[in-house]
Amino acid sequence: MMGPTAELHVHIEGTLEPDLLVRLARRNGIDLPTYDVDELRATYAFTRLQDFLDVYEANTAVLRTDEDFAELGEMYFRRAAAAGVVRAEVFFDPQAHVRRGVPIEAVVEGLGAAVDAARSRGMSADLILCFLRDLGPEAAMEVFEAALPLRDRFIGVGLDSTEVGYPPSLFRDVYARAAAEGLHRVAHAGEEGGPDYVWEALDVLGVERIDHGNRALEDPALVARLRDEGVALTVCPLSNLALRTAPPELSAHPLPVMLEEGLLVSIHSDDPAYFGGYVDDNLQQVRDALQLDDETMRRLAENSFVSSFAPRAQVDGWI
Ligand code: HPA
Ligand code: ZN
Repeated sequence: MMGPTAELHVHIEGTLEPDLLVRLARRNGIDLPTYDVDELRATYAFTRLQDFLDVYEANTAVLRTDEDFAELGEMYFRRAAAAGVVRAEVFFDPQAHVRRGVPIEAVVEGLGAAVDAARSRGMSADLILCFLRDLGPEAAMEVFEAALPLRDRFIGVGLDSTEVGYPPSLFRDVYARAAAEGLHRVAHAGEEGGPDYVWEALDVLGVERIDHGNRALEDPALVARLRDEGVALTVCPLSNLALRTAPPELSAHPLPVMLEEGLLVSIHSDDPAYFGGYVDDNLQQVRDALQLDDETMRRLAENSFVSSFAPRAQVDGWI
């Protein structure tokens, strides 16, 4: 087992394992293409972000009640604890549910109950509300306002889904509102989109962390900026393999370059039910493929804590 770590890049909808998918589909009377867990898993074969997002979105249809969300969260937090996660900052996509007629309260209160349960077992855990960038800035503002009465249930906002064609600058206003509310700000950038998306996330949205950020390496001035300002990159190796946002061999993953460049990188799982592993699997596989020594593994874990939004005193206790 891996040592303690912080999971800072995981989408709760991406933790929907086939067995829970089938159970919830039956419970809620939702049609699935197949109810065979192995056949379902076989549909989890992607070569790019959009192919994955289509399956991910279709499967969210089984999530309907606060109980469903609580169960999804509960399964994730238990698996995460077994992976050595002592701090979890978990993304959720309210628009994926609200647009199907699910009340936002069911989403947030259901996940919130799972967060409370995880905390009662000793984990440090919080939620981050993500905007689906392909639905545009007005829809983002609308869901943000709908979520404001539940403000004490999440600590920040993020930006995910289809990247290319939906640059961060579109979301200037809603990120300004989030900042005014004292919320943390992160954004997916430089996953499929170029370095210009990472610049915009920093300059226009004022994000504190970049999710993925792999393509920042194409721009030396950007690499210098990320290093000098200590901006965290949450890197997801098995996701990069599955979505072809890194070379097809883990042994050619850019993680060592990121570390050599002095970037504040840490390892995360993104959508573990779809990409073949939780954070412990990601850590083990990069360690083996890239032959990382104990000192580097310790640094990756320390980076995850330093990059987290946990209270300073908690972070000091972990590093
Ligand atoms: N990228 C963009 N959107 C997402 C992802 C991702 O890796 N996972 C879930 N939504
Ligand atoms: Zn992601």
